[in-house]
Amino acid sequence: MGRKLRLGIAGCGDIAGFMALVSRLVPAVHLAACCDVDPVRSARFARKHRIPRQSNNFAEMIHESGLDAVYLAVPHHLHYEMIRLAVEKRIPVLVEKPLTRTLAEARSLMPLIEAAGVKVGVNYQYRYDNACYTLARWMQHGVVGRISSVRINIPWARQSGYFEQSAWHRTIEQAGGGTLLTQGSHFLDIVLWGLGDQPESAQGYSSHFKFQDVEVEDLAHGIVRMQNGALVQIASSMAVATEQAVSIEVYGSIGTAIYGNFPFPHIKLIGAKRITERLPVLGVHALQRSLAGFAAWVLEDTPFLIPASSAVPVLAAVEAIYRSSGSGQREAVEAFA
Ligand SMILES: NC(=O)c1ccc[n+]([C@@H]2O[C@H](COP(=O)([O-])OP(=O)(O)OC[C@H]3O[C@@H](n4cnc5c(N)ncnc54)[C@H](O)[C@@H]3O)[C@@H](O)[C@H]2O)c1
Repeated sequence: MGRKLRLGIAGCGDIAGFMALVSRLVPAVHLAACCDVDPVRSARFARKHRIPRQSNNFAEMIHESGLDAVYLAVPHHLHYEMIRLAVEKRIPVLVEKPLTRTLAEARSLMPLIEAAGVKVGVNYQYRYDNACYTLARWMQHGVVGRISSVRINIPWARQSGYFEQSAWHRTIEQAGGGTLLTQGSHFLDIVLWGLGDQPESAQGYSSHFKFQDVEVEDLAHGIVRMQNGALVQIASSMAVATEQAVSIEVYGSIGTAIYGNFPFPHIKLIGAKRITERLPVLGVHALQRSLAGFAAWVLEDTPFLIPASSAVPVLAAVEAIYRSSGSGQREAVEAFA
């Protein structure tokens, strides 16, 4: 077996637990260290996943653990500073989505990343989901023809425990946004990636339907107009009574492609000729493949599907929807390149 990636995990919460579990299926990854501000969490996490070093301070972890890369699974407002510190130390980063809490942070970070030449990837792991990957590739290769419109529906349900267990989810200051940024952006990212065009303007509404006592929205609808005129409609919710399947409908001049994730991820193609697409990484779960893809990027320079620069457009589009829902006007998507 080749060299292993000595990975440090920052944030020992919810998604880090899943990532640590799937890392057991990624032979190229060795969990070398973890840290969490909560000492009980970091100690429990280290024990459970047999991680040799643990601390309660990110700077200490990256200075003292001899890491090849870090995985950041911390609240959104910490992404910017932790990426900056790691990049300064020339340590590659896999950061949980979104890249940063705001577009302004992403815009100031990207030149630092590029100047340092350090690999920074974002865990929009649906790019490593077979069906989402195929859908995006079909869109990129014109399988359904010229795309006029896309409709994305994310009818998810969260209970009050979601905000109680991770209080940072409640505030704009720490989370940056609610369902659209935290959940919907996964699928908007797939569609923007597939369209390969720049978002130009957006209109949106957001509301507090179920959770009145938190700052962030639990329901958001938006329409993003792309530079080529295609319209992307997104409805993102964490307030439905019973969670339903996610769907992405792509309408083109030749045919229609429809993604659904229930009972398992699949796509249907209507009126167009199917081409076979294969993910560049094998594995049983998208999180596993995303981690394996990141490890191969760092160790072997094999291209990763979600370099940081490619996760900026979704942040720009989400922010324009938020601005529009506040102003009641159509808002330009701010320049991000
Ligand atoms: N890719 C996905 O499917 C997916 C799913 C869930 C969450 N996420 C993302 O993962 C990130 C974390 O979300 P979560 O649900 O795991 O949150 P969480 O609240 O469960 O975990 C966050 C952890 O970070 C720790 N933390 C806070 N400040 C810290 C600091 N300064 N240094 C070290 N640790 C610190 C907290 O104590 C907590 O244990 C977010 O970016 C979120 O959007 C991604």
